[in-house]
Amino acid sequence: MRNDRIVYLKDYRQTDFIIESVDLVFELGEELTTVGSQIRMKRRPGASPDAPLEFVGDGLQLAGLALDGKPLLPERYECTSDHLTINDLPADDAFTLTIKTNINPTANTQLLGLYRTNGVYSTQCEAEGFRRITYFYDRPDVLTVYTVTIIADKAKNPLLLSNGNLVEERDLGDGRHLAKWHDPFRKPSYLFALVAGDLAMIEDRFTTMSGRAVTLRIYVEHGKAERAGYAMDALKRSMKWDEERFGREYDLDIFMIVAVSDFNMGAMENKGLNIFNDRLILADPETATDDDYARIEAVVAHEYFHNWTGNRITCRDWFQLSLKEGLTVFREHEFSADQRSRPVVRVDEVKFLRAHQFPEDGGPLAHPVRPTQYMEIDNFYTTTVYEKGSEVSRMIATLLGEDGFRKGLDLFFDRHDGGAVTIEDYLKCFEDATGRDLSHFALWYHQAGTPVIAARSSYDAAEGRLELTLSQHTPPTPGENDKKPLYIPLRVGLISPNGDDMEPSAVSGGERTGDVLHLTESEQTFVFEGLGAKPTISLNRDFSAPVRVRFDQPREDRLKIAGAESDLVERWDAINGLALEVLTHATAAVRAGRSVDTDSALASILIETAEDGELEPAFRALALTLPSELDIGREIGEDVDPDAIHLARKAVFSAIANSGRASFARLVEELREDNGFSPEAGSAGRRALRNAALAYLAEAEKSPLPARQAYDAATNMTDMIAALRILAHQFPGSAETSAVLADFRQRFDGEPLVLDKWFTAQATVPGEATLDRVAELMGDAAFDEGNPNRVRALIGAFASSNPTGFNRPDGAGYRFFANFILATDPRNATLTARMMTAMRSFQSLEAGRREKARAEIERIAGQEDLSRNLRDIVNRMLK
Ligand code: ARG
Ligand code: ZN
Repeated sequence: MRNDRIVYLKDYRQTDFIIESVDLVFELGEELTTVGSQIRMKRRPGASPDAPLEFVGDGLQLAGLALDGKPLLPERYECTSDHLTINDLPADDAFTLTIKTNINPTANTQLLGLYRTNGVYSTQCEAEGFRRITYFYDRPDVLTVYTVTIIADKAKNPLLLSNGNLVEERDLGDGRHLAKWHDPFRKPSYLFALVAGDLAMIEDRFTTMSGRAVTLRIYVEHGKAERAGYAMDALKRSMKWDEERFGREYDLDIFMIVAVSDFNMGAMENKGLNIFNDRLILADPETATDDDYARIEAVVAHEYFHNWTGNRITCRDWFQLSLKEGLTVFREHEFSADQRSRPVVRVDEVKFLRAHQFPEDGGPLAHPVRPTQYMEIDNFYTTTVYEKGSEVSRMIATLLGEDGFRKGLDLFFDRHDGGAVTIEDYLKCFEDATGRDLSHFALWYHQAGTPVIAARSSYDAAEGRLELTLSQHTPPTPGENDKKPLYIPLRVGLISPNGDDMEPSAVSGGERTGDVLHLTESEQTFVFEGLGAKPTISLNRDFSAPVRVRFDQPREDRLKIAGAESDLVERWDAINGLALEVLTHATAAVRAGRSVDTDSALASILIETAEDGELEPAFRALALTLPSELDIGREIGEDVDPDAIHLARKAVFSAIANSGRASFARLVEELREDNGFSPEAGSAGRRALRNAALAYLAEAEKSPLPARQAYDAATNMTDMIAALRILAHQFPGSAETSAVLADFRQRFDGEPLVLDKWFTAQATVPGEATLDRVAELMGDAAFDEGNPNRVRALIGAFASSNPTGFNRPDGAGYRFFANFILATDPRNATLTARMMTAMRSFQSLEAGRREKARAEIERIAGQEDLSRNLRDIVNRMLK
């Protein structure tokens, strides 16, 4: 099938024609929009003089075609809904092509291309949406200057926006008006954007480091303007930070963000006109949680940072996607670390990577950060391309030092501004700027899979010498059995008996810079001389490399790291590791019908850490929070029984609650915040710690009352939803739970983003009964199966975050989900393919569930007319 064609990196070649500029005219109509495109172009020097012009389309209807103003005779071209080929074009001279297409924005439920929902026209063109608007070279290496004219009914669409600067605005006298935008920066089609409708706006200004004034605008639905203030504040901080940290200045006179309610992804970095999922813009204390605030700050920054990493310098082809995404996530992470608590932000990143990227890398959908082939590029906006890509840039920074990294990046901006480049071009800049050879390191981009580092050590007390042997291996991934050793920067701490870091007099066995060991071979022994006492070894400080570490360390050493390591990321990891060990043992006990041993050392360390006033509350909250059922399942890795995990976790949770009851009660009391709400990280940390303690306290008291009281007393959404979740998850069916769920539903009627939290809290209640509840909630008036946020909040959360409910032993969860996916696929393929990945680890389930899950995936794969997106995912999952 033509539709299932595979695209290979090795087939890359330049276009035969160059586009000098494009003028687009949109006459917007709800069911019929006409798009006129005037393209000035010429044959590329050196291209074959008789090569035809080949443009792509997707579901288009051609309404006119002319060359230099004269209609083209049908024998000169060939056109279908997905391509336009024109023959006999001039060999040398420039020419102008005029193309007219008719599209229907209202019927566009894929939310890709130009679509109209909720009375607003908006676009999403990355990766291949522009071809749903007009025939074009819809690929990132074709950069050109856009001028965009928008004509629409003025009453319904007072607002007409596109990229760049507004150059004309006029009434047409017939109820319509016109706006013309010009973007002086050459850009690829995926960065094109258009918005029209009736929206509210907030405005601010920013003066760049060279003194240029920039107007900042955020557009949101009427009535929500006050909720855009935090996003605006985050935007200004991002602009300042990028100047200070990376010397990057904004380049247009205006920067606009539009929040829309129907959006497939998080947000999009269109030049000068970012378009966001409204959940990543709108926030106030009554409707947004602290996590929402943190996400908004991060994503506003991320999209803004793309202006340099992605827009000014873009990707040659979509295989290079991590060139912009990995680097931009890294910049975003650094920004968050500077705005908030660096170790806490880092721990969150580590948790995310382990929860999402490691399973991807260890499952059927594994692929390198720079893939070499794809069937549907939309399916490669993955945590491997984004988050592992970010870790790879972080490792470059670790190897080169902050200065070396900055020098390399400066050279990158200098050398490639205005270009569409490759990962190799990126790496070359670091090599040229620092003289360091990164050829071995580059393997991180090309080899899939999560490396495992196994460590062993021996200490010679008489000589004061430590030998540390580190070996690495990467398990096979689909289509790639032979893995080579990687170049791994591993931060290693040697902790003395009194808790200080020890500095050896000499180290041999490999390169070491600062506390970073350079691992380059499959096995290496590092020898540390001149140690006065036996050190406790702390491996992968600050999570310097995205690897798994296997180190059979004495429990006393692990407890020491958990209680006193100066690197807080490692300290958290040691605590988390102890908890995982206890929880996996408990799970084994449940499955064997034995009683659960609820380790008192774990309880003590959690409670002591939670009470340690020297540590910041956000860190204490992280330490106190037990690994989730999903975390435990991933740690066990095979033959997973979600019900056993649930029971085991409950027993351990309950034991900790009982032994720390007095401390939890004290924390809940002490951390009461009386002086108003601030979204600032310190304040959020205190709420996180208090709510973590509240969950234990409620458990210890075996009563819904503390959570009920907390719900009633809450003055912000963080506390409110935390209390609601405790009730729904720990006291299902209680009168308090029912009352609070009903109160919340009614209180936030007409607030879909808030009701998403209500849907998710219920969809994730453990146990078999939740499936029926989810089906029932689909009938709630607030549920809208056409809105991706609603769908993800209810059905997505159920499939991805409810291990006992979704994996019901009778397979009913899988059947329900598969039915939903099949029914929704024709409507929105980006969404169904993405949601389907919730089942990517089905092979790790115990046999009964695994086969039931497989049968449902096979049932999907057996359907005739799946979208290419979904077909690609299910085929790879079943390989
Ligand atoms: N480039 C956007 C970002 O900032 C994401 C676009 C996703 N688009 C898609 N078709 N998957 O991360
Ligand atoms: Zn991005």
